[in-house]
Amino acid sequence: MARVALIGSNGQLGTDIARLWTSSAIGRRDELIALTHADVDVVDAAWVRSVLTGVQPNLVINTSAFHRVDDCETQVREAMRVNAVGVKNVAEVCRDLGAVMMHFSTDYIFDGEKRSPYTEDDPPSPCSAYAISKLAGEHFLRYILPRDHILVRSSGLYGVAGASGKGGNFVETMLRFHREGAPIRVVSDQIQAPTYTLDLAAALLELANKGGRGAFHISNAGQCSWYDFATELFAMLGLRPDLTPVTSAEFGSPAQRPLYSVLDNGRLQELGIAQPRPWREALADYLRLSGQLAA
Ligand SMILES: NC(=O)c1ccc[n+]([C@@H]2O[C@H](COP(=O)([O-])OP(=O)(O)OC[C@H]3O[C@@H](n4cnc5c(N)ncnc54)[C@H](OP(=O)(O)O)[C@@H]3O)[C@@H](O)[C@H]2O)c1
Repeated sequence: MARVALIGSNGQLGTDIARLWTSSAIGRRDELIALTHADVDVVDAAWVRSVLTGVQPNLVINTSAFHRVDDCETQVREAMRVNAVGVKNVAEVCRDLGAVMMHFSTDYIFDGEKRSPYTEDDPPSPCSAYAISKLAGEHFLRYILPRDHILVRSSGLYGVAGASGKGGNFVETMLRFHREGAPIRVVSDQIQAPTYTLDLAAALLELANKGGRGAFHISNAGQCSWYDFATELFAMLGLRPDLTPVTSAEFGSPAQRPLYSVLDNGRLQELGIAQPRPWREALADYLRLSGQLAA
């Protein structure tokens, strides 16, 4: 039995990891120590050391991030503190305790020029402050824990807990816009794979069970634009909002995003772990589990 410290345990991914990791239906019987932001701030090196030394984990899962992508453009210092220095702080304690660290990064470290699914070996080329800070975190992870790390890149996360840092996930934001009755504009030229955190958490468990180390891309299967995703969401719920596709240029976000950032899950599959199901099935399941679609 392993002792697992989960940082960011009440975020959307953290919530689903905590739920699955402690489920008796899964063949892993870890003791999971759930740490919220109030229990430890990754930016504070002494606090991280004190908490993790007290826990004595074999595995530390760090889901913490500053991921309000547009805000990172103006709050670069904060982005770097959480997404880079925070990773360094956790990784150094893991190294000293002999623990493995599982950490999360993003499809946004790629520039989107490739136009076919990105593998773990494709060279990163970040085009926003957020992506640069996340890539810096990756470098700290690999530098401090060259062998004992599990780096998982994913995309477009949504889960029942909602992204706390963003005040809700894309699905809930779309549904709120619909309730408010305002016209909705959604970008139609950014292609990625929206990923349900419950499915990601299940794949992470298998990855941990199989002793995977290094970098892994994990996302729901298939690909779509944010506009396609919103269209499918409203169709599933029988809603007819005033929905208009716009280009990224028309939308005019402060931060640039890749126009194509689908992740190739090949390394996961090489380990004998199936890529999470197609994104439409995952979305339907999310809507059922959150009580928005009849079971
Ligand atoms: N959301 C996406 O679309 C997406 C896509 C690709 C990759 N990712 C990556 O996936 C990971 C999980 O994302 P998520 O959507 O689950 O995020 P989330 O819902 O916002 O959860 C993040 C958790 O980390 C905590 N946290 C934030 N700053 C912290 C700090 N300085 N010290 C300790 N805890 C802190 C948050 O607590 P408070 O809310 O109380 O601060 C929250 O519990 C992140 O690394 C993110 O970069 C996300």
